[in-house]
Amino acid sequence: TDKRYILAIESSCDETSVAVVSEDNQLLANVVASQILSHKRFGGVVPEVASRHHVEQITLCMKLALEEANITVSELSAVAVTEGPGLVGALLIGISAAKAFAWANGLPLIPVNHMAGHIYAASYVKPLEFPLMALLVSGGHTELVYMREHGSYEVIGETRDDAAGEAYDKVGRVLGLAYPSGKELDELAHLGADTFNFPRAMLREPNYDFSFSGLKSSFINTVHNARQKEVNLDKNDLAASFQASVIEVLVTKTLKACQEYPVKQLVVAGGVAANKGLRAEIKTAITEISPKVELIVPPLHLCGDNAGMIGAAAWIEFSKGNLADWDLNAEPSLTL
Ligand code: KG4
Ligand code: ZN
Repeated sequence: TDKRYILAIESSCDETSVAVVSEDNQLLANVVASQILSHKRFGGVVPEVASRHHVEQITLCMKLALEEANITVSELSAVAVTEGPGLVGALLIGISAAKAFAWANGLPLIPVNHMAGHIYAASYVKPLEFPLMALLVSGGHTELVYMREHGSYEVIGETRDDAAGEAYDKVGRVLGLAYPSGKELDELAHLGADTFNFPRAMLREPNYDFSFSGLKSSFINTVHNARQKEVNLDKNDLAASFQASVIEVLVTKTLKACQEYPVKQLVVAGGVAANKGLRAEIKTAITEISPKVELIVPPLHLCGDNAGMIGAAAWIEFSKGNLADWDLNAEPSLTL
């Protein structure tokens, strides 16, 4: 065949992932080796442990992805890799592997922004149409991104402190849940009610920024005070109240952005986009308030970190001629 393929590599945090993506956006393979079990007992990602796991897994993941895609190296057009943002040591493993493989096989190297990747996960559901608004919610980021065309990003608002996923993980820890606790809190939330009325920070402020640290503190203080007084609080209600606050702020600000900008599509992406409550409420809100805006939320397996999303974003960079030199370095604080 004369189809063109990209081998994409992602290693910014705690998943080692390699994918094969065709030029017409078919995901032929998307191998994800999760390290979560190794980080659980520390209550968070330990950078040194993450790097070591990436080193151990990366070659095998590359081999498996090529096997699963059932293509030969000679059919590849390029190698793509996440250059940032993320953990420097973790990123460097993916970058080193990508450079070595590309160099050895005479292939160009494409640098990809991890957050752009999260947005492009949505392109596996439907072709992206512009202008587009993206709500990016992950463990490290919470931002609203306006896109006028492929590969162009304007951050119109972002969190001033904690990311949404980070807040989930921190309050989950106080409830004794294992890291990362977003998914479990989401499940508990569906069993409880919003009885605590936690703060909705910056809800009415005339900007698109977020803040979750006040909510986090309010939650933690509530739990600690109750423990001191030996009062038993309902875990499900605590989870439901926390989640109601996060979702109300995210949905309100995102919908406001969709009304003030001429958007055709709304993409919700990143690890927290797996949240059942958020998925349901943003759907209801968009249907009621901006029915002309087409909502795209990637399937669950493409919300968390994976190389498939990096491959999709890479084709855009490739078409623009954005290639990396052999001295490509990790950019831990790369922005969109
Ligand atoms: O995008 P991601 O896999 O990694 C980063 O780039 O950060 O996001 C991970 C974050 C974690 O904080 C995790 O708790 C959160 O996504 N998460 C969720 C859910 N599933 C994962 N948060 C809320 N509800 C969920 N169902
Ligand atoms: Zn991510």
